[in-house]
Amino acid sequence: MQRVLSGVQPSGSLHLGNLVGAIENFVKLQDQYQAFYMIVDWHALTSKFDKTAEIGPAIQEVAATFLAAGLDPERATLFIQSQVKEHAELHLLFSMITPLSWVERVPTYKEKLQNSEADLGSYGFLGYPILQAADILIYKAHKVPVGEDQLFHLELTREIGRRFHFLYDTEIFPEPQAVLTQVPKVPGLDGRKMSKTYDNGIYLRDTPDQILHKCTRQMLSDTARVRKLDPGNPDVCNVFTFHKLFSDSDTVKMVQEECPRAGIGCFDCKKKLAEAITARVEPLRQKIEDNLAHPDRLNAILRDGSDRARITAKATMDQVREAMKLPNY
Ligand code: TRP
Ligand code: SF4
Repeated sequence: MQRVLSGVQPSGSLHLGNLVGAIENFVKLQDQYQAFYMIVDWHALTSKFDKTAEIGPAIQEVAATFLAAGLDPERATLFIQSQVKEHAELHLLFSMITPLSWVERVPTYKEKLQNSEADLGSYGFLGYPILQAADILIYKAHKVPVGEDQLFHLELTREIGRRFHFLYDTEIFPEPQAVLTQVPKVPGLDGRKMSKTYDNGIYLRDTPDQILHKCTRQMLSDTARVRKLDPGNPDVCNVFTFHKLFSDSDTVKMVQEECPRAGIGCFDCKKKLAEAITARVEPLRQKIEDNLAHPDRLNAILRDGSDRARITAKATMDQVREAMKLPNY
């Protein structure tokens, strides 16, 4: 069975965009692959080195959400990066063979360095993609489900693997391929991409009341439609984009027909949307809260996952040290 692997930053509340874009896909892939999903708390340190108290609760929240969404910890290995110290060793060894110019040319590097609110001027942040390469190659992953923004990191991972093979005359690592999800991007309440940074999200822990409030009071609709008697245009309306993602086909059809002839008002349209989103989110929310209310159960799953991941990581590190002719006492 081929291996799939991905990493998620523990950065607090997960939203609908994360659910549709990543989490549901991860859960599906556990059927076809041997899956490794890791919570990358060391990567989070690149921007949170001064707010480390936030990382622990964020790890719990990510784990609680993945399990609630159907991740089966018996089949998929759910674990915490920092609990498998071998990642740090491989990161160090890779950092010796990676030319500085390779990491300096990562397109997101300079951009993030300049635009982020966090102080990213550290040595560790420059090495972020090298740590990611270690995460991936240590499990000999074949497939890596990620967003488009990660494609360059994947390319760099393959290059580091090739360089390792060339330098030490070995063939340890398969070439990992990105798996891009086919789902359309979920917009935010304001029409931009849904993102924690923009504060425009519907979160998986939002209650039905919060969802109703966000949909009816905060979501942008067709701005040209001012009064209820004005005809609207669903094609330029953010609410309709949401309907297409979360409502059943009858509702989508109804809105498409009624909105342009002012047969439905925006408030009712948004209320219908809130119902559809709630139907999807509420069962998940209850499971997330239940998981968070049982930290012992949650921690046991993470500990077990980390133990299993470590076995694979240790086996790879033995091969790596041998290939590099490093002492192995
Ligand atoms: N950089 C990834 C992101 O921000 C997170 C990540 C860390 C990752 N290690 C990984 C993703 C390994 C895939 C595989 O989304
Ligand atoms: Fe948008 Fe719905 Fe209002 Fe039409 S009725 S403009 S689709 S919110």
